[in-house]
This record gives sequence, C-alpha cells and structure tokens, in this order.
Amino acid sequence: MRSYSLIAPAKINLYLEIIGNRPDGYHELAMILQSIDLADQIDLHAASTEAIRVYCHHPQVPTDNSNLAYRAAALMAKQFPDAFSNFGGIDITVRKNIPVAAGLAGGSTNAAAVLVGIDLMWNLGLTQSELEELGAQLGSDVPFCIAGGTVIATGRGEKLSPLPSLDHIYIVLAKYRSLEVSTAWAYKTYRQVFGSTYMTNTEDLAARASAVHSAEIVKAIVNKDAVKIANKMHNDLEKVVLPSYSQVLQLRELFASQEGVLGTMMSGSGPSVFAIVESKAQAEIVKQKIREAIPDEDLELFVTQTIGNGIQILN
Ligand code: C5P
Repeated sequence: MRSYSLIAPAKINLYLEIIGNRPDGYHELAMILQSIDLADQIDLHAASTEAIRVYCHHPQVPTDNSNLAYRAAALMAKQFPDAFSNFGGIDITVRKNIPVAAGLAGGSTNAAAVLVGIDLMWNLGLTQSELEELGAQLGSDVPFCIAGGTVIATGRGEKLSPLPSLDHIYIVLAKYRSLEVSTAWAYKTYRQVFGSTYMTNTEDLAARASAVHSAEIVKAIVNKDAVKIANKMHNDLEKVVLPSYSQVLQLRELFASQEGVLGTMMSGSGPSVFAIVESKAQAEIVKQKIREAIPDEDLELFVTQTIGNGIQILN
C-alpha cells in the first residue's frame, strides 16, 4: 500500500528509579512505563520525489530534521537504501494531540509509528525486536512505544520486560503548554546533586539488583490493584524538577488534595503531572476542580486511561 495511518499513544511513568551512572553518559534506570489512550495520528504517504517531508500544524513541533519522526524515516532510508529508491520518498503528517515536551514520549511515539509504518509500506517484514533495535538508535523511549502496554524498562530504558496489561485505570493529566523541562538538564542535575549517593559502577550486577525498589509496584500491577499502584508510584527526577519548577509542584499538591485521587506523580522528566483516580466520573470531577483552581488557558487538562497497546494501524 502507498499510504498508512497509525495511532501513536503517549506513555506515563508509573515508576522511574535512577540506579547509576553509565559510561556512555546516560543513566541506568529501572522504570515502569504505561501506555495511555491519549494519542497522535501519523499519516504516511509514498511521495513521488526521493525526499522525506514532515507536516504538522502544531506551533511547537519542528518539521525539519530535528523532528524524531523525520529522523525515524531517515534511519529507515539509510538502513534500507534499495527499498527507499524503489518506493521513493515519504510524506509524514503528524496530527498532534499529545502535549509537546511533556515527559509523555510524544516525539518517541511518533518515531515508533514511522518505523512500524515504513516497515509495512516497504514490505520489509521486520520483527518486533528488529524494530526495537532501530528505535533504540533514535531515543531511549522509542522501543517501548512500538509495542506499548505495561512494561518494566531497564538499561537506558530500551530493555523491555512486559507486565500483564492494565486497562481502564483512569488518569487526569495536566501540563502547562508553555512550560518545558529539558530531559538532559533533569538527568544532569540529578547526577550533580545525588551522583555520589548511588552507584557509579553499573556493571556490578549484585549491587544493581539490590538497588532496585520496584518490587511492590510490580506486585500491585500483577494484582491489578489501582490503590496500591497509586501508592507505590515513584519518580526520582521529581527531586530535581519539583524544587526548580513551582508550577509542577503546585499541580502535584493540588492533585494530591482532590477527593477520589489515589495517587499523583510527575511523568518522566516532566513537566506533566498525572493523577490516578478511582473512576471515570471522578476523573471528570477532578479535571473540573483543577480547572476551577487554575483557570489559566495555558494549562492543558486531559482525562485519559491506561491501555494495553502501543502503535496501532488505523488503515
Ligand atoms: O534517549 P533520549 O534521547 O530520549 O534521552 C534524552 C536525554 O535524557 C539524553 O540526552 C540524556 O541526557 C538523558 N537520559 C539519561 N539517561 C537515560 C535516558 C535519558 O541521562 N537512561
């Protein structure tokens, strides 16, 4: 087929623990990543010229080669030059619903959709692990975004072990449109402040195993116990982002004080904050209450839910 449309869901971090420094400058992580039904749509069309073009109406999304969706297509063109010259260029249209620069893997999930879509368009027949390997070259969250669901992610975030899927846990999500937190800044600051207190030698497997504290939340996920999951959420990056970004801290505190909220956490390196809420009806009430407390148009609010999948082919 000469065109495909794909649904690219966002993710939240139910858990993010920084285990240690890595020699490559990244951080060794233990994360639990969760897909949610807030999603972008990616339309791919075969073009007549040998060019990759990105179209997006969102003012904060670049359409040049800094866009991760563009880089995903360029990577496929480089890996499969024969297919690229046979099938010609690609027009990529990004229909954005996921807040940008939010800690929700918006760019990563767009890149994942481009990999999956081009694999289909060029009849490459790549396996999921081959797609994940290509994804890891683009960013730490891209491999997860391909299959999605509920997953333990280790290493840089690219080593994945699936957990039983968690459906219909309701979430209220908040992000200030104009507020951005650099992921690189958050990790660098964490290393500066806390680097001496954790492992510098991540090759030490025994020490690494004893450093990971995610066992209780994993058990809660297996038991599908939303109350326990909400109680055991954790994000080390909050320790550097909350003191520096008062709006994120304010959202965290506001969510925590709402009736029906089981737990609240910043996602990834922020600045989006989410709350797990006991029902869909309660989630709508919490969203309304947050809107009344912060009538600022700059604040985006969503009611969403956990889903058990990543990239989906729409048509
Ligand atoms: O992999 P990705 O490009 O999404 O990461 C963005 C930035 O976040 C990296 O440049 C790095 O500074 C930081 N990072 C890290 N350790 C990880 C993942 C990301 O330090 N495991």
